[in-house]
Amino acid sequence: MKIPTELINYLKKASRVAVLTGAGISAESGLKTFRDSQDGHWAKYRPEDLATPEAFARDPKLVWDWYTMRRNKVAEASPNSGHFALVELERLIPHFTLITQNVDGYHRQAGSKNVLELHGNIQKVKCYDGCGVVEDWDEDDNIPRCPKCGAYLRPDVVWFGESLPLDALEKAHQATLESQAFLSIGTSGLVQPAASLAHTARQKGAIVAEINLDPTPLTPHVDFALHGKSGEILPQLVEEVWG
Ligand code: APR
Repeated sequence: MKIPTELINYLKKASRVAVLTGAGISAESGLKTFRDSQDGHWAKYRPEDLATPEAFARDPKLVWDWYTMRRNKVAEASPNSGHFALVELERLIPHFTLITQNVDGYHRQAGSKNVLELHGNIQKVKCYDGCGVVEDWDEDDNIPRCPKCGAYLRPDVVWFGESLPLDALEKAHQATLESQAFLSIGTSGLVQPAASLAHTARQKGAIVAEINLDPTPLTPHVDFALHGKSGEILPQLVEEVWG
């Protein structure tokens, strides 16, 4: 696709860039996005009905099995050219912050260093009773117990209705306030507070560009809307701006 010259010229001069990614950046790795319909045994469930503390309290094994399925799909797939392009961007731009809603861990796996995981990480588990234990998720089909208090361990992700990790959120907000350019990539922009970051950047005078297959509620508010696959557009952007 043709990347607007104005965006290229602006990014060439930008030294402070913040990026927000959503499930769309992992779609070309073969992972379903949140709003994709689920398949197989899980087709009868909505993520919103599984990714909640109430769902886990009601049927911990069902929720555990859903996350085990998702972890296995993450393990079977790998980061794509969009993730690797952002690793390049982090190397090329003096102050670069990567904020993600994704829990697949692909940004770090691709080599990104400064990653703020607003919704947690599916590779980790933590104590359901909040006693502070956080561990790597072992290959375990049965729900492990907290070594400290004996409660169930649960995926270390933010469920609907739960608050985001404060430290990550504060750093994301600060990077957004300081950004000269904000890129919203592969997110439907439906879930707060992540969805507000692009608006905050714009209010502070940053230029905002969106990379998405489809228009989103953010699209009318951005300076540049690049419609297409992030796995194709991001490498092209890196080449045309910093190549
Ligand atoms: N390239 C760019 N964008 C893509 C691609 C692609 N190859 N494939 C899909 N998309 C876009 C879709 O058009 C959609 O706008 O990615 C977006 C994915 O949106 P969602 O499935 O809503 O995922 P996300 O925005 O990350 O959801 C945010 O909501 O359900 C909660 O906590 C969950 O982190 C998740 C949050």
